[in-house]
Amino acid sequence: NRRSFLTGGAAAIGGAALALGGRAVWDEEPVPMPAPDAVGQATEEFRGIRQAGVSTRPQAFASFVALDLRSDVDHDALVRLMRIWTDDIERLSQGRAPLADTEPELGAVPARLTVTVGYGPAVFRAAGLERLAPAWLRPLPAFTVDRLEDRWNDGDVVLQVCADDETTVAHAVRLLVKDARTFVTVRWLQRGFRSTPGSTPPGTTMRNLMGQVDGTRNPDLGVEPELVWQPDGASDALAGSTSLVVRRIAMNLDTWDELDRDGREKAVGRRLDTGAPLTGRKEHDVPDLDAVDANGLTVIAPFAHVRRARDDEHPEQRFLRRGYNYDEAPAPGELSSSGLIFATYQADVDTQFVPIQRRLDELDLLNEWTTPIGSAVFFVPGGARAGEYLGQRLLE
Ligand code: HEM
Repeated sequence: NRRSFLTGGAAAIGGAALALGGRAVWDEEPVPMPAPDAVGQATEEFRGIRQAGVSTRPQAFASFVALDLRSDVDHDALVRLMRIWTDDIERLSQGRAPLADTEPELGAVPARLTVTVGYGPAVFRAAGLERLAPAWLRPLPAFTVDRLEDRWNDGDVVLQVCADDETTVAHAVRLLVKDARTFVTVRWLQRGFRSTPGSTPPGTTMRNLMGQVDGTRNPDLGVEPELVWQPDGASDALAGSTSLVVRRIAMNLDTWDELDRDGREKAVGRRLDTGAPLTGRKEHDVPDLDAVDANGLTVIAPFAHVRRARDDEHPEQRFLRRGYNYDEAPAPGELSSSGLIFATYQADVDTQFVPIQRRLDELDLLNEWTTPIGSAVFFVPGGARAGEYLGQRLLE
């Protein structure tokens, strides 16, 4: 009986593993079943006025899946799709396999799974709700650094699927896409990673594949939630909503290799070992943009990424960076195909994200080695409170 199997889920599988555990396959002792607080059994709350996966401490693995609506999808179809996904996501995130799951054992490892759903302009059109679409919900303006490839651009719907176990991510993506097949087709899928839990001390900032500590200066959403979220008291359509920008940024690691350590640190304005600003000692020291060296030159150069990436005269031009590394099979003749899935959340794309991307387009030494090759903007509706489906407060 399926139900009792599922409720007994983790324990049943654990028992089986131990029963088989007599003969060691790998050259170490058989490991006992994970404790309930093990990485795989940890869960994130699904229900709430805001969707999970934004202020959630980033999990190790992410898949960003952009989907296009089939031409016959209308308002009622969207509601059906969102009801299906809401049920699937709630179950998966709590380690309970969804009803239509053909691999329920894979659904028994939540590993802090979150699935964050976003809408492109087509959802508002299909729902007949164009009047509610935010003005910023459109492709970003063109930047001179861009070399965008259509295969990584735009999309009608996005799923950001994150977990601390990549099998969990793969299973969730497969299930959610399969359950939506009569409504959507897959447009692109970008897979990313950070450090696996346990491989670095808790709280360590991630490193990107250029070797830099990346993600140090991010807003504290406990203090400034308005940088990301529309207020809980906003209209029903907006309460708890935000926006997601996904930029796929390729890194040229071959030419980056030609640069010495000093040059690499000057390009960013931070040290490679600790991530500290060139004017400080510790990672979280505040960069002193006015400090000068013995020659009277600013220690953090005019072209340094951290100087260009902020505008202290416009503190509202900040956003949450929640990106992931990618590392794909290189093209023939190439050594690597690596970069960042640069994902940001902000309350308003036009007033927060675009001005900073423009500054970096004008001047940023990192542009020598980094190239945006994909770009997409999504509206992220508020979360599903008890009894609601995702997107309900917008769609009804
Ligand atoms: C900071 C790397 C693209 C915005 C940083 C830092 C590094 C870094 C190492 C310093 C540590 C930190 O505070 O996180 C990169 C790489 C990129 C990239 C490798 C491309 C592959 C971008 C883009 C934007 C951006 C496209 C914005 C559109 C920022 C901001 C900060 C930052 C806002 C914090 C600046 C501060 O307030 O001190 N980035 N970055 N970065 N980056 Fe980037």
